[in-house]
Amino acid sequence: MTTAKMSLGAFLMSSGHHLAAWRHPRAWAGGGLDFQHFKKLATTAERGKFDAIFFADNLALMGSPELGQFTTAGDVFDPLVLLSGLAAVTERIGLVSTVSTSYNEPYLLARKFASLDHLSGGRSGWNLVTSATDLEALNFGRDKHFEHGDRYQRAEEFIDVVTGLWDSFEDDAFIRDKSSGVFFQPDKLHVLNHHGENYRVRGPLNIPRTPQGYPVLIQAGSSEPGKALAARTAEVVFTAQQTLSNAQAFYADVKGRLAGYGRRPEQLKVMPGISPVIGRTQSEAEDKYQQLQDLVEPRVGLAMLAGMAGGFDLSEYDLDGPLPELPQSNSMQSRQALFIDLARRENLTIRQLYLKVAGARGHHTVIGTPKTIADTLEEWFVGQAADGFNIMPPFLPEGLDDFVDGVVPLLQQRGLFRTEYSGSTLRDHLGLQRPGNRYQR
Ligand SMILES: Cc1cc2nc3c(=O)[nH]c(=O)nc-3n(C[C@H](O)[C@H](O)[C@H](O)COP(=O)(O)O)c2cc1C
Repeated sequence: MTTAKMSLGAFLMSSGHHLAAWRHPRAWAGGGLDFQHFKKLATTAERGKFDAIFFADNLALMGSPELGQFTTAGDVFDPLVLLSGLAAVTERIGLVSTVSTSYNEPYLLARKFASLDHLSGGRSGWNLVTSATDLEALNFGRDKHFEHGDRYQRAEEFIDVVTGLWDSFEDDAFIRDKSSGVFFQPDKLHVLNHHGENYRVRGPLNIPRTPQGYPVLIQAGSSEPGKALAARTAEVVFTAQQTLSNAQAFYADVKGRLAGYGRRPEQLKVMPGISPVIGRTQSEAEDKYQQLQDLVEPRVGLAMLAGMAGGFDLSEYDLDGPLPELPQSNSMQSRQALFIDLARRENLTIRQLYLKVAGARGHHTVIGTPKTIADTLEEWFVGQAADGFNIMPPFLPEGLDDFVDGVVPLLQQRGLFRTEYSGSTLRDHLGLQRPGNRYQR
């Protein structure tokens, strides 16, 4: 029995991760706007002792709405608002939301996550993204998205402003002493006075320091500047990796960068996404997968691929021919590289490629029995490819139930996953230290 435990995040989407999830007979197509659906998913994940639930986010209607389908869910709540509701109906599980640095103000973001951390008793986490598309830029007074390097440079400054604001009050600033009339101690209040290249923020933040000190900082870009940002600032990194060897290389790469910032390897948890398609037998799992694949409409599959591979129009190419040479995208560079690598390595046509990534947009899909899934997770965890995983159910709610009832008990029997929560905050679950206040260090 090994003593190290893996972390598990339940990466939730309205009907599930598969592109055709909403069309599956047992999926809830209206899930994106159904609070009871999300409540059930969150409580199921909590029953499974997951570290966190996690929501992605985009700031535009993505894909090709003229096809009458979305390529990324378009009927969903704002994740921070949804998590505020879910905080009230859960007790232990972490609550992680994606929020973009490119189309937000640091002050507003710092305040919202601090609020979620307070109202959940220290369970919040922020997945920092820089956004990916011109469609998003068009909603914020710009014609084009920021250049890739620029938006990471803005993100570097943004995160420093946010953490600075979270330190506005020392932990013991609020004494609320009725007899003396001192509500908080003024010498424990600090004004940030940030004057940077992209942001000017005076501070202080109008909310006390949070239960976790800082909400857990997560980063999900895997390009060079993405990895540099993660190594300097993040405590968890989400990533899409197709193969064990690529995941091991990524793991060694980001962990190896930490020393350069005076950090230790255990201060950053690497969590690739895995989409498990689970059946009682191998053939049942394969049938389930095929049923989903058969529901992918070619034009929707192609639109999803075109969007994820950098926003290039692929409609003029033969679906049964190879993926053309593509220039480097200003969008998701690491994902584009993953798609091109996959197409070349497996010699896939455009059609085969979009079908291959329809399940989880480039994350690794594992099809099999609970034992097969548990074996893969163990192999990646023990093989230093991952400290944990974002579990991406193909369709919901069934996919999460199958994992919690089938795979979690196996991981627990093998000593790879907790059987009970030992702490109450997301930092406790992940084994991350609470950061001290910079003014007290
Ligand atoms: C698990 C996971 C979740 C992500 N969620 C989002 C998201 O919700 N919104 C978004 O704009 N990008 C999301 N991304 C994409 C990255 O954050 C990043 O924007 C993208 O990979 C481009 O960065 P890169 O060029 O550094 O790879 C996600 C990536 C991963 C691995």
